[in-house]
Amino acid sequence: MKLFDPFNLKGLELSSRIAMAPLTRRRANRAHDPVDCMATYYAQRANCGLIIAEGTSPSPNGVGYSNMPGLYTSHHVKLWKNITDSVHKSGGKIVLQIMHTGRIGHSNNLPDGARIIGPSAIAKKGDTTTYDLGKQPFTMPNEMGTDEVQTTIREFADCAKLAIQAGFDGIEIHSAHGYLPNQFLNQSSNKRKDQYGGNRENRIRFLLEVIQASIQAIGSEKVALRISPFSYADIDEDEGELIALYKMLAEELNQFNLSYLHLSHMGDAKPVKFELWKKLRSIYSGNLMLCGDFTKDTAELALQNGDADLIAFGRDFISNPDLVERLKNNWPLAERDRTHWYTQGPQGLTDYPVYNSMLHK
Ligand SMILES: Cc1cc2nc3c(=O)[nH]c(=O)nc-3n(C[C@H](O)[C@H](O)[C@H](O)COP(=O)(O)O)c2cc1C
Repeated sequence: MKLFDPFNLKGLELSSRIAMAPLTRRRANRAHDPVDCMATYYAQRANCGLIIAEGTSPSPNGVGYSNMPGLYTSHHVKLWKNITDSVHKSGGKIVLQIMHTGRIGHSNNLPDGARIIGPSAIAKKGDTTTYDLGKQPFTMPNEMGTDEVQTTIREFADCAKLAIQAGFDGIEIHSAHGYLPNQFLNQSSNKRKDQYGGNRENRIRFLLEVIQASIQAIGSEKVALRISPFSYADIDEDEGELIALYKMLAEELNQFNLSYLHLSHMGDAKPVKFELWKKLRSIYSGNLMLCGDFTKDTAELALQNGDADLIAFGRDFISNPDLVERLKNNWPLAERDRTHWYTQGPQGLTDYPVYNSMLHK
């Protein structure tokens, strides 16, 4: 089977084509420090091809969720280094997902002096948990000035540098699911009048500049990108416009020698998603990773058909630390249990048992 074959990811030797998708688990403390139990959690899952560590903010402005980790201080570097060391000691490879929440957050969750920002002053519908105020509607974002846009681009690149110092094998820029780069892409959240808003070319400018700055900081083969053209966070976008935008983006991406392009929520067979995924595959010449509702069989089929090079699994990695072994041996998977997705401490993080084939004979 291709799924369990080793794969050379621009010089990084992966033991299989199975990636662990980025999974926010909100275990960090209020200073947005990663904590010790995260080292155990990731090391337990190190036998997959590539771990994509949870969405982590490059800036105090980008930690819009409570207990989300950051990577923007030397102290963060030291703490993340413990985590990457434990994964490497267990034989794994790990990249960091850089996630700036932009308008998807609440000011109560930010450190002193930080502020909720976005391309335009348009609040996201819905609410989120806060440290002190219970559930609250998302904060109205401050529209970023052009200078602030450029400062934020530098924050992504600085974070990429810190990630390498912290021992990560690379980074994945989170431009999916409605977070900051995605907010620039979409018309419903970007009404800017400067060079970062308006036509498609302008709306993809922020993301392209984030990619370019990150490449300058750490090299193209260490930079990956995640997108979700049909993100659930911005359902009011025009479908035809989205398709045109993502085709244009895929063409632009060919100029960079990225580690991989990651399409999220492309596993189900809704015709419009399926067609776009095929189209992007035909336009984009680099490595493609797919994620969303894959099983062993559908993952293998996508690889055999040449529709993808790598497959990421999300929810099944939470309750199956030994997911690769279970898939390989056709052992049953533990139930997806949402209870501890976003709770504190090691419970529901590091205490899922591995499958013991002897006990189940
Ligand atoms: C608890 C949880 C946290 C998630 N956190 C992130 C995240 O930090 N970054 C991201 O890009 N996607 C995140 N996702 C989406 C997953 O990476 C993945 O796309 C999704 O679970 C679909 O894959 P699956 O069907 O294999 O679970 C999260 C999903 C879950 C269930």
